[in-house]
Amino acid sequence: MTSSQSTADVAVVGLGRVGLPLALSFADRDLNVIGIDNDAARLSAVREGRMPFVETDAQALLERVHAGGRLTLSERVADAAAARQIVLTLGTPSFSHIEIDMRDIRSALDDLLSVLTPGHSLILRSTVAPGTTEFVAGYLRKHRGFAIGEEVFVAHAPERIAAGRFLAEIDTLPCIIGGVGARSGEVVAELFGVFAAPIVQTTPVQAELAKIWANILRYTHFALPNLLMMDCERYAANVFEVIDLINRDYPRGGIAQPGLTAGTCLRKDFTFSEERSAAPGMLLAVSRVNESVPLFLIEGARRRLGGLADRKVAVLGLAFKADTDDERDSLAHKLIRLLERELADVVAHDPHVPTPTPSLAETLDGAELVIVAANHSEFRDVRTLAAIAEHASEDCLIVDPWNCWGAAQVFAYAAEVAALGAVG
Ligand SMILES: NC(=O)c1ccc[n+]([C@@H]2O[C@H](COP(=O)([O-])OP(=O)(O)OC[C@H]3O[C@@H](n4cnc5c(N)ncnc54)[C@H](O)[C@@H]3O)[C@@H](O)[C@H]2O)c1
Repeated sequence: MTSSQSTADVAVVGLGRVGLPLALSFADRDLNVIGIDNDAARLSAVREGRMPFVETDAQALLERVHAGGRLTLSERVADAAAARQIVLTLGTPSFSHIEIDMRDIRSALDDLLSVLTPGHSLILRSTVAPGTTEFVAGYLRKHRGFAIGEEVFVAHAPERIAAGRFLAEIDTLPCIIGGVGARSGEVVAELFGVFAAPIVQTTPVQAELAKIWANILRYTHFALPNLLMMDCERYAANVFEVIDLINRDYPRGGIAQPGLTAGTCLRKDFTFSEERSAAPGMLLAVSRVNESVPLFLIEGARRRLGGLADRKVAVLGLAFKADTDDERDSLAHKLIRLLERELADVVAHDPHVPTPTPSLAETLDGAELVIVAANHSEFRDVRTLAAIAEHASEDCLIVDPWNCWGAAQVFAYAAEVAALGAVG
């Protein structure tokens, strides 16, 4: 099919946490959209009008889009060619040996290769390693001989929205477009121009670097207080007091609070720089700091309790961050695996995630150790502290790197937390 025969304005390939809200947002701006995913269960959920994950206000949007009839669905990547603009929102994980895993992108490219015609645009919305957009352009040039930027258009338009804020940020966050060749940037801007956000044109590699370095900045930003937390334990100092001393009325302060830092983006995007870094190991060290927080918390608890074998441990939170249902790449799971290797009896509770978990009361019942792995709003509520007092063992140790209750102690016994806590 040529672009003049287009039956849709845009195809979105990969209806995940990025692709589905984007496809719905395009349809809501009166574009005819083809949504493509090879996960049949995901497609059925969307077809039945059910969001397969939680995204603020997206359920109502899905229902509106259904009523409007501007979204069609397909399992076949090649069907994307029915639209002039094709946006790839596929996963881009990292191999464990620090190299971008482009298998989903390559597979979609191969499916599209024979059906692309002059007039098509291919837009990488996924987060990619520097050089990937030029690789995609080169791949199309090599296998189909297209003049990129004149006949077929290729650009990187990275997704920079945070989960849970998609619909609020799609019209406000500047949309970076790095187009290959003379006209790719301009053609792709026509698509993203349906949103109110300003469009910023740049080169493909600068768009790639801007996206991954925004996440590297955040990952490093949180590694610093996490490393400080470990240093403070070594010196018997209080990390929350040191952070307050750093930041209080100091114009060059601004250190963040400690916590469990991971998630699908932060945990892997640094590898897209690290795979060919001029300072190899620097960002790996940042990762090692964030990745060692679960072990640090467990060792701190073990020192205070004298061993964790056969003790009941309640883990509060399985999601990778507060108030999300996304468990992918959450450090809570690593924490649980490490606790199990201590032969502890672990029970976890999370009111947000799809994984079924026992009630808070059941989870806490008789626990000798409570670890707050995600700082969900429910946990920060004083009623969770009251539930610990009611259900956990009397001298229960609480490990709370988030300072949920204002007690300003990473490790403290329940009575101490209640006495010191701002909400206790
Ligand atoms: N999740 C976020 O908050 C976020 C934010 C910014 C950027 N990103 C980036 O956006 C990209 C997508 O992330 P995500 O969280 O939406 O991923 P995801 O895993 O939720 O979604 C990917 C979707 O693609 C589908 N898929 C995989 N291979 C396919 C194929 N060959 N054909 C058709 N469908 C296929 C999967 O079934 C899945 O539904 C990644 O590069 C990620 O780093 C994610």
